[in-house]
Amino acid sequence: MCTKCPYTCHDTSDATEFSKLICEVRKEFETTDRINVDRIKSILAGYKSNRIEWEKYTTWDHHRYTRNLVDEGNGKYNMMILCWGESQVSPVHSHPDSNCFVKLLSGVMQETIFALPSTEPGSGSKKLVVKGEQQLKKDEVSYIHDSIGLHAMENPSHTEGAVTLHLYVPPYMECDVYDIRTGKISTSSMTFTTKGGLPVVT
Ligand code: SIN
Repeated sequence: MCTKCPYTCHDTSDATEFSKLICEVRKEFETTDRINVDRIKSILAGYKSNRIEWEKYTTWDHHRYTRNLVDEGNGKYNMMILCWGESQVSPVHSHPDSNCFVKLLSGVMQETIFALPSTEPGSGSKKLVVKGEQQLKKDEVSYIHDSIGLHAMENPSHTEGAVTLHLYVPPYMECDVYDIRTGKISTSSMTFTTKGGLPVVT
């Protein structure tokens, strides 16, 4: 498939299963903006993670997880690789009307889902309520949308990093971040450490 790939999202001579996955996701959104959640989950789950194929997108930072853009999907989505050092976490956050898929490529990741707090005046405590928790296994895919709730992710390992593949459809560059105790909301801008495997110069 990739030797005749019409896309410029990656080096077509590098026809790895990972580059085929990039193509397959592109194809999925070529003719439509509609999203079939089960189909996208199954495409992502079908890729068997092989570190050699995606390692060029990985970067590590002692202080926080890194976000590395793999493909902008013609503006229809962002495909990213996130690298989580030992015990690194994301804050509780929303996905502004975006469909968020997360596949575990290596290591272990814990996802905690929270109910979306009520915005009604007088609705009481804004303390966030946990709706569910799951530990992702290698190659598993989780899905979240604001209609399901908020989430936070964590690498629970004290000795090993973890790597996840994220697909946000449509892409977004800002989201709401919630204080876990008070529910207080702030806005966070999303940035990338690398794009297409190259450092982002700021
Ligand atoms: C996540 O916890 O899903 C990662 C958030 C991000 O895109 O930075």
